[in-house]
Amino acid sequence: MTDTALIARKAALAVLEAALARRGGLDEALAGQGRLTAQDRAFARALAMATLRHLGPIDRALDRLLAKEPPAPVRSLLRLGAAQAFWLDVPDFAAVDTTVELAPRPLRGLTNAVMRNLLRAGRPPMAPEDLAPPWLYARWRAAWGEAEAAAIAAAISEEPATDLTPKSPVDAALAAALEAEVLATGTLRTRRRGDVATWPGFADGRWWVQDAAASLPAQLLAARAGESALDLCAAPGGKTLQLAAAGAAVTALDRSASRLKRVGAALARTGLSAEVVAADAAAWPDARTFDAVLLDAPCSATGTFRRHPDVLWNARPGDIASLVGAQQALLAAAARRTAPGGRLVYSVCSLEREEGEDQARGFLAAHDDFALDPIAPGEAGAPERSLASQGVLRILPHHLPGGLDGFFIARFRRTGQSG
Ligand SMILES: C[S@@+](CC[C@H](N)C(=O)[O-])C[C@H]1O[C@@H](n2cnc3c(N)ncnc32)[C@H](O)[C@@H]1O
Repeated sequence: MTDTALIARKAALAVLEAALARRGGLDEALAGQGRLTAQDRAFARALAMATLRHLGPIDRALDRLLAKEPPAPVRSLLRLGAAQAFWLDVPDFAAVDTTVELAPRPLRGLTNAVMRNLLRAGRPPMAPEDLAPPWLYARWRAAWGEAEAAAIAAAISEEPATDLTPKSPVDAALAAALEAEVLATGTLRTRRRGDVATWPGFADGRWWVQDAAASLPAQLLAARAGESALDLCAAPGGKTLQLAAAGAAVTALDRSASRLKRVGAALARTGLSAEVVAADAAAWPDARTFDAVLLDAPCSATGTFRRHPDVLWNARPGDIASLVGAQQALLAAAARRTAPGGRLVYSVCSLEREEGEDQARGFLAAHDDFALDPIAPGEAGAPERSLASQGVLRILPHHLPGGLDGFFIARFRRTGQSG
């Protein structure tokens, strides 16, 4: 066994454990792994991702084989071993040997025996209800019905393409250079792999990474040249870039100064401009109102599991209730910032009704100077099946072939004349 084979797997173990312990995102954990070759880093990332995408079925298979819970970190090592053998085309002997070598010495016999039994049993079945944590699956079934819940969960194991938003409407040459298809949303979707910073058009700021669904809130706000636009929860900035590219005078606000650095870097790379403000949206001491306000609120992010499968395993039922309170306060702040006659778009990358439909309904009940501005069929290229009868978008991850992030999007208009 080469050292490099073990180094990459050790990094994957640390990343998996950090991701499951809510110690930041997967990429932050990977960045904390010190000096790794590009190849080891890519393998560690792919292995941690494959493990998280199949965590439910792997754990069920392990539960059948383990008489009692083994001491840490054996379960995580076995999870990684399973992912290598079943989804990464690592030969069985290499998956077993590396897993055993990384186990604490007294537990190597047990690890070896469980790995061999796991491989003998074969790839675990991928029942949709096993792919998500049971409490989340139960929520989705209650909210969207059995068939939709199963389709959502089936998307958990799928590896997504990379979506890019072009700075200006697509030119065919850029799409071809990126080996991308152009979606109805205007998104460039590519199956390229590797460091996006080396792809054509990155250095000269011709696009940014943004899921097709995430590109919709700013498109639906439709800010134009001559208008003022406020992005109230702006970082890391994909939607700010869209609003600026549309020609609006943009104010990008976020309470996280560190995340705002990414907004600044993205604006610089793309040659776009916006006023960048570090402040709590609910307590921002500024009297201005805006023609177009975007509130892409902090949320459970359960809709982003295609690229962040760890969100599913880190979410807790109590999180949703506390996020709902924060979203309500931010919506009230967004309303105060919307000029008479102006538009307000509310979005969350969540699959949970409480953060979406219920918030929109509660907002209208509490703000009689706002009305729903219904989204039209086909507007901004949103999938037709995502358009709910009230004119809001409830995007589920299987609504587009190849998938897209789950989102809720509603557009409101403030009554009265624009000031
Ligand atoms: C879903 S993310 C926004 C993503 C961003 N719109 C984009 O497209 O890149 C939510 C953001 O809300 C910010 N946030 C949370 N609470 C806030 C508050 N009270 N005021 C301002 N920003 C807040 C977080 O720092 C985080 O960056």
